[in-house]
Amino acid sequence: MSDGLDTAEKRGQWSGRWGFILASSGCAIGLGNIWKFPYITGENGGGLFVLIYLACITLIGLPIMLAEVLLGRATQKSPVGAYRDFSAKGSPWVIPGWIGVLTGFVILSYYSVVAGWALHYTWLSLQGGFAGMDAETIGNTFGSVFANGNLNLGWHTAFMMLTIAIVLGGVRHGVERIARILMPLLFVMLLVLLGLAMQSDGFAEAFSFIFSPDASKLTRAGVLEALGHSFFTLSLGMGAMITYGSYLKKKEDIVSASVVISILDTIIALVACMVLFPIIFSYGMEPGAGPGLVFISLPIAFSQMAGGAIWATVFFALLVFAALTSAISMLEVVVSTVIDETRLRRTAATLLCGTAIFLFGIPSALSGTEGFAGKEFKDLTAGIFGEGKGKNWFDTFDYLASNWLLPLGGLMIALFVAWRAGAAAREKGFNEGTRFQNLYVAWLMLLRFLVPIGVVAVLLHALEVI
Ligand code: PFF
Repeated sequence: MSDGLDTAEKRGQWSGRWGFILASSGCAIGLGNIWKFPYITGENGGGLFVLIYLACITLIGLPIMLAEVLLGRATQKSPVGAYRDFSAKGSPWVIPGWIGVLTGFVILSYYSVVAGWALHYTWLSLQGGFAGMDAETIGNTFGSVFANGNLNLGWHTAFMMLTIAIVLGGVRHGVERIARILMPLLFVMLLVLLGLAMQSDGFAEAFSFIFSPDASKLTRAGVLEALGHSFFTLSLGMGAMITYGSYLKKKEDIVSASVVISILDTIIALVACMVLFPIIFSYGMEPGAGPGLVFISLPIAFSQMAGGAIWATVFFALLVFAALTSAISMLEVVVSTVIDETRLRRTAATLLCGTAIFLFGIPSALSGTEGFAGKEFKDLTAGIFGEGKGKNWFDTFDYLASNWLLPLGGLMIALFVAWRAGAAAREKGFNEGTRFQNLYVAWLMLLRFLVPIGVVAVLLHALEVI
């Protein structure tokens, strides 16, 4: 693996368009789609939340994805360098680049804890799964897993070590190769589960829950969450797509690639809901059960199935891999920035950043406990979020990073590319390699006006200003 990242050859490149699409889909498709989207859809009452989320993906997420990939490909740099290259020397525009890196740092710290749950459930499945357990026992299992600090710490350590090992060994060829095999496998697996879910009693109820808008169930915070999640799920607002775009050759079509990645990501999220909610409704469970949703509902379904232990193992293992292809992209953003900016070698930078993220994630791993990161932190933050609305460490950082830092980061990228970057470089960056040059003006208009207005409006709405 190279140490410096100065030349295209040293930095590495995707093998081609599909290499980029699969690796970027691997980065985008992760716990956000299968763990987070179903549970926040459940918490926000379904239909209308999904509709707003889809609008955010299409009108805000997609234009920003294009802006990020364009910036990365044009500069061949990670976020801080990309901002610097496209602005004047000493320009304050590098600040949003650094904030993006920090956001990646924060998200990975708790993302790894959730991936740890997936590792633990893979392990449980391997040992015979959930056969013979009733729904209540399975529900209680998740509760006791989250409350077990040492267990979470152990799996968090294991997952961070795995992530560090892959980034150490050179993520680019590794990621692409892993993504090429695992992404299609995940797709097939979800389709099989969808087939099973469609035959269950709760499918009709689930379908209408996911797709029928009901305005009475959506709150201000829910609208912000839909926006924040559209950034989270597409890996936008922190420079991951800038970094992945920087490994792309100039002749590739970034317009169609961005559309394909967004569509794949959205399909996976919707299919995950269509797999989980029928089970939830069939067993009379609560759709707003929170972060444990996927870890409770699927084991219940598996416990009833012939060969359920095998299905469960395959599913949770794939969830781990989906998490891994996303986690390495987050670490890669931090590491490649540190390499670019400090001239540290890849090995040192990876070990340093990986360890720091691991340490920062420890309180997240302990968030289900009665101690500081858990109950005490909840009491502490009740002063900020309101009485009875306190959040543990894990929830606090998820809330801050996904709902605020990512949209703000995305807003900065949109403003930068739409208003600050040179017109000629921007147009060239968009047009190179694509047949869809006629979409340039529409994209620029979205990025100039609708994206900033939309993001600011949702943020102000959440702050109860409008
Ligand atoms: N998009 C990933 C998911 O949905 O799980 C999470 C993520 C990965 C967010 C990479 C941000 C990022 F840079």
